[in-house]
Amino acid sequence: MGFLIQLRRVLPRGISEFFINIAVQIVIMAEDLKIIQGSKEQQYISLIPQIKSLIEGENNMIANMANICAALKEQFGWLWVGFYLVENDELVLGPFQGPVACTRIQKGKGVCGAAWQNAQTILVPDVEKFPGHIACSSLSKSEIVLPVFSKNEIIGVLDVDSILLNEFDEIDQKYLEEILLIL
Ligand code: SME
Repeated sequence: MGFLIQLRRVLPRGISEFFINIAVQIVIMAEDLKIIQGSKEQQYISLIPQIKSLIEGENNMIANMANICAALKEQFGWLWVGFYLVENDELVLGPFQGPVACTRIQKGKGVCGAAWQNAQTILVPDVEKFPGHIACSSLSKSEIVLPVFSKNEIIGVLDVDSILLNEFDEIDQKYLEEILLIL
């Protein structure tokens, strides 16, 4: 910004204000997420470095989970993106973006509880066909749930819901697992 003060001294006022406004816009825009159009894979490839730089230098896991939810929701526009965190013998709602959701899920219950119990990602192309699915929103039609590991232990799950059937596939699994490794 020192450069802008120098600019103000040497240039006529109207011109220096013009450059200062542009510089301020660039500084503000640098904090916005860059949203792109394109294939699912292109969207992840554009988003992942941005998530990395959002998380870099911040070691508060809740803050980082919150920004991951916001970034995914903004890029993909899914119905619900959020974390459930392991607390004793159940999952408790953590950072999320989307409609209000169920607060607690028992181990083995629903898609989230099953992903935790089995320690694996679960893709649900049609939630009505998943026995024991917990419907937090009637709008949710398909879902992916991934376990979140820390030092070989499951500390929670990432749950993503869509209003469309068959929204998620192995591409989502691959890139969402990559995002969880950044945490
Ligand atoms: N459908 C999930 C519950 C969480 S909500 O979708 C946000 C499940 O069956 O575990």
